[in-house]
Amino acid sequence: MLQKPKGTYDVYGEKGRQILAIENILRSMMEKYNYEYVRTPIFESSELFHRGVGETTDIVAKETYDFKDRGDRNMTLRPEGTAGIVRSFIENKLYGDPNQPIKTWYIGPMYRYERPQSGRFREFYQFGVEVFGSENPYIDAEVISIPVNFYKLLGLKGIKVKINSLGDAESRNAYREALLKHFEPYLDTLCDDCKVRYHKNPLRILDCKVDNGLECMKNAPRMLDYLNDESKQHFEQVKHYLDILEIPYEVNPNIVRGLDYYTHTVFEVEADIEGFGSQNVLCGGGRYNHLIEQIGGPSTPSVGFALGMERLLNALESEAIHLGEQNIDLYIIPVQEEQIDYAVSLAQQLRMNGFSVDIDYMKRNIKGNFKQADRLHASYVLILGEEEVEKEVFTIKNNQSKEEYKVEMDELIHFLDHHIEEKFYE
Ligand code: HAM
Repeated sequence: MLQKPKGTYDVYGEKGRQILAIENILRSMMEKYNYEYVRTPIFESSELFHRGVGETTDIVAKETYDFKDRGDRNMTLRPEGTAGIVRSFIENKLYGDPNQPIKTWYIGPMYRYERPQSGRFREFYQFGVEVFGSENPYIDAEVISIPVNFYKLLGLKGIKVKINSLGDAESRNAYREALLKHFEPYLDTLCDDCKVRYHKNPLRILDCKVDNGLECMKNAPRMLDYLNDESKQHFEQVKHYLDILEIPYEVNPNIVRGLDYYTHTVFEVEADIEGFGSQNVLCGGGRYNHLIEQIGGPSTPSVGFALGMERLLNALESEAIHLGEQNIDLYIIPVQEEQIDYAVSLAQQLRMNGFSVDIDYMKRNIKGNFKQADRLHASYVLILGEEEVEKEVFTIKNNQSKEEYKVEMDELIHFLDHHIEEKFYE
């Protein structure tokens, strides 16, 4: 039997409903925050990620899906969303739009050739936002607040926000020097990757999963001690706005993130749920004030984050939160074959008026049909016999209370409008 590729998964049934419910909430939330939807290609030229994400990151050095297209061009399946959106921002000259800052959101599949495990896939979905054109620390806090408020809205309780600052270029250079000095005597003890990182990008050493436990990692200099005044002030302001937004956080100097483009604020939100597993980072992001220049655009301060859908689904499962339960407004039962034409037409009319309606397609008997109505969690059941069709007066049954109503055709939409509950956050 042919099987799905390693590190991928199929979506169907309950999981599909849950994902759609989550996406609907995200869409609706983004409308409230006034962010615009963007979509960029799933594959881009490889060079974009080499320049954008960084040559020395694990993502680019070890995990990209690279291929040559039939025109011999080097292409890569996107491992993350930021680089492509930055490319699009530059290519479409959005920096010239008077409507600044440009606030965008996206959702889609990303690809990393990682060792699959719970919460870690080779094809996974991210929802993210990217904001271009503002240095204001208020926007950093807003970006951090989006996933936190979203998780709160879904009812997740065990989440923890960790923030840090990587400072500006001057602070980073000072820190780089300190790291070089610190790690020099231990160079021989570091893994081969870190020996390369030492020369190319020593900050990456702190992110190493292999050397993680070494003593020299534990007592390495802390970025926060190397922030210049401007960077310190920016970080203080971000914290101030987080307080105003009532977003609890902890400052954690070990948050350096696995991508090269960050400056100033970086953050991660963790699932603080017992037994959740090692892949507990639900989302991450931060400010990247130089990436646009690096990819060939004008200097544009920017900030964003992305959250993993699979880890979110795991967290919801751990906290027994069920979204997107199957339910329909009305289930129509044609009693005999003669009423099918009428049922089909009635279903269409009601669907076009905004109700979710299903019909019996399987010629079930009445008992079987009521069972099916229960399986579909139908709010109401409409039984369509010869007399009902002829007189256009229907018997409608509340599928929970079993209360029955006689409703004329002309009154049907009005009746359903009044009896169907408004749905949460649509
Ligand atoms: P990232 O930390 O690499 O950041 O990924 C963000 C989130 O995507 C992670 O916290 C995790 O939930 C999810 N994720 C990452 N890799 C996998 C995987 N293999 N399987 C399942 N989920 C995964 C970024 O991608 C940045 N582009 C975020 C950003 C946006 N920074 C600024 N703007």
